[in-house]
Amino acid sequence: MGASNIAYALLLLVLINLSNHNIKGTEAFHQIYENLQSESVESVNHLHRTGFHFQPPKHWINDPNGPVYYKGFYHLFYQYNPKGAVWGNIIWAHSVSKDLVNWEALEPAIHPSKWFDIGGTWSGSITLVPGKGPIIIYTGVNQNQTQIQSYAIPQDPSDPYLRKWIKPDDNPIAMPDYTMNGSAFRDPTTAWLAKDGHWRTVVGSRRKDRGIAYIYRSRDFKHWVKAKHPVHSKESTGMWECPDFFPVSLTDFENGLDLDYVGSNTKHVLKVSLDITRYEYYTLGRYDPKTDRYIPDGDSPDGWDGLRFDYGNFYASKTFFDYKKNRRILWGWANESDTVQDDILKGWAGIQVIPRTVLLDTSKKQLVFWPVEEIESLRGNYIRMNNHEIKKGQRLEVKGITPAQADVEVTFYVGSLEKAEPFDPSFTFIPFDLCKMKGSNVTGGVGPFGLITLATPDLEEYTPVFFRVFKDTSNHNPKVLMCSDARPSSLKQDRGPLPKERMYKPSFAAFVDTDMADGRISLRILIDHSVVESFGALGKTVITSRVYPVKAVKENAHLYVFNNGTQSVTVESLDAWNMETPLQMNDGAL
Ligand code: FRU
Repeated sequence: MGASNIAYALLLLVLINLSNHNIKGTEAFHQIYENLQSESVESVNHLHRTGFHFQPPKHWINDPNGPVYYKGFYHLFYQYNPKGAVWGNIIWAHSVSKDLVNWEALEPAIHPSKWFDIGGTWSGSITLVPGKGPIIIYTGVNQNQTQIQSYAIPQDPSDPYLRKWIKPDDNPIAMPDYTMNGSAFRDPTTAWLAKDGHWRTVVGSRRKDRGIAYIYRSRDFKHWVKAKHPVHSKESTGMWECPDFFPVSLTDFENGLDLDYVGSNTKHVLKVSLDITRYEYYTLGRYDPKTDRYIPDGDSPDGWDGLRFDYGNFYASKTFFDYKKNRRILWGWANESDTVQDDILKGWAGIQVIPRTVLLDTSKKQLVFWPVEEIESLRGNYIRMNNHEIKKGQRLEVKGITPAQADVEVTFYVGSLEKAEPFDPSFTFIPFDLCKMKGSNVTGGVGPFGLITLATPDLEEYTPVFFRVFKDTSNHNPKVLMCSDARPSSLKQDRGPLPKERMYKPSFAAFVDTDMADGRISLRILIDHSVVESFGALGKTVITSRVYPVKAVKENAHLYVFNNGTQSVTVESLDAWNMETPLQMNDGAL
């Protein structure tokens, strides 16, 4: 038995032992593996590491924290386990970048050190406070597992790197009172200064199964008082983690707004991350600064099946206003979909998605997302395809780029939607299940058509991203389904040694709000070894999948355009680029 086999056998023993006794993980939240959280990794497996996504050299990461643009640098902090590849020992790791592409790792910003955070330094945000500089507010966990809000300030606000952070002695700033659930009180948002001279921040919580977003006020950023009513709450949604609350313009569809923007032509967005489902949803609505209440628009579903920033593997997201370019930028965590055993063998877990701009769609009914323009600086080798007809059953290879690390933009022309199959009332309206039923190989009228990513030529492994158009029988409007189907993505053994634990290979899907009036639909995909980020109809519907092919890797991965609908589809234009790997400088701090 070689050394690696012995290591593997030992790992199996630990995991099996764990499965019998020690798992404390709740149904949701992060699974807690006490025996593994401080098992430093011996080596890092590079097979599925990403080339241009943000990830530290090793170990576990989760939520993005405190994103901000300050003195010429973008700062990204994130939940990080410095000791292992599973959740635990959480600190705020810190990296900076001038361009959102090349990152430099700095020493961790905050770690457990005081009575109010000795049990963990969890998620939070940064606010640029005039006259004071950046201030972190975050959730600390005390030794009784009570969640408490505290603040930290830079030792030297004139340092653009913001290297050292101090927790002032007048901490904490908010403790749960007797009416609240002290083990469900976390993730304060970036604060904003209201016209009445009081700062506001929103904190996620729950009471029984009602999800709650509390709002706090402060004059001096030190003494915070909970408003009488939550800014919003909703029954049966469970714990609201990582709330995000920001305005969008109803008249300017090109620029973002800062949090303190006041004007009549705005709507607000409230996003929450649902601990029970591990998905997020958001509503559009009205925020009344006088009563500090938010009311979702009537047609904005407020619950589990609400609108999402991303319909795939995406959680604990956070936006910030980038005043350098007047845009609101979204970060989000894409967790692994493989098994804990795989994570430990890989030596790492979790990535951040490519940051995305966030704007209100011109329909005013939803948001649209697009990778930040800076990412285009990584585009290398380039190929273009024009006006290429793809008949039923055809698959056409996109050659000349590196399909495992690529950026692809395609516009399909389908023309008339006459042949679209009727949306049979017996079909499920749950896109996930519909995609499962009508996968990429089930012939339709218009579609399925799209791209096949990370594929072997014989399709032993592949991750198809595609559209399928239905006709709504009641009003004849098209109903466009978009799928990112990870089911055929990997031949890998998908069972781990832990009971019930399997690799997660979902048929992620959502409807795209388009009537395809001009017979066209576009798709952009960022492919990066184990992540496929897809943007349908210019960012109206976004789906991120994590996949782990064993054969369709590196130079053995292929990319195709395909059509399995009876109606021919024209690739009106397809642009594809190799993506270079940016610098991720680590000064050894991690
Ligand atoms: C979301 C979350 C937050 C918490 C943090 C802990 O993934 O559970 O609610 O602050 O992660 O790491």
